[in-house]
Amino acid sequence: MAGPVKAAIQILPDLPSLSGAVARHIAERAAFAVKERGIFTLALSGGSTPRPMHEELASRFASSIPWEKVHIFWGDERYVSPEDAESNFRMARESLLERVPIPGENIHPMDTSAKDPRAAARAYQRELENFFPGPWPVLDLVVLGMGPDGHTASLFPGAETLQEQRRWVVPAQAPVEPRQRLTLTFPVLNRARWVDFMVSGRSKAAAVGRALDPGCDRRITPAGGIRPGSGNLLWWLDRAAAELLEPQA
Ligand code: 6PG
Repeated sequence: MAGPVKAAIQILPDLPSLSGAVARHIAERAAFAVKERGIFTLALSGGSTPRPMHEELASRFASSIPWEKVHIFWGDERYVSPEDAESNFRMARESLLERVPIPGENIHPMDTSAKDPRAAARAYQRELENFFPGPWPVLDLVVLGMGPDGHTASLFPGAETLQEQRRWVVPAQAPVEPRQRLTLTFPVLNRARWVDFMVSGRSKAAAVGRALDPGCDRRITPAGGIRPGSGNLLWWLDRAAAELLEPQA
């Protein structure tokens, strides 16, 4: 499915400028998608890096985004209450969703209330099946982060979930608390029209180098397995995260 994907790399001086650049790209893609198809489907990443980018979306770019036509999903979630400080939904709610006029029914969090995460994964898959026409969900844009170990979403090095080709959403185990997660799988992530990685900090520079290596082994560096068939793959990096990359011509 995935042909040779040439990742486009954008390097910004620091996290604030990186956040503004990614927010601008999302706003541009939202305007284009709504003009083309009347809707923009966006999957957010968790972790801490996206917070300032969300704040930019909710301030500098808020008026240029047609929020009533935007639908928000998540690439992964920690299996905690939405009120928990570790919740990706809570981070997005605080930094973005409660600050913009997006209708409540346009927000599609992963429900973590079920006792069994397998049931929760199946429930989110049903939500995606009900929302997206066709055999697979095609998200307009997926924002992804990456850990220093090269994981992305909650697809961790050496995990069984890296081989998943049938299910769209699966439970996952993280090496750090909160260990129980839910994550979209490679087949879904690689069907997105656009994938924007947003990576900041020196601690990730080695994993960036591995992920961008065409011969990357995704079992070791899962982020290297993100190769959207659309070919629209952007790596947004700050200088620290890019420090091991060859200087660009
Ligand atoms: C999560 C994320 C995860 C994150 C990386 C980077 O739920 O933690 O989806 O993939 O993007 O762990 O996290 P930081 O941005 O906090 O470094």
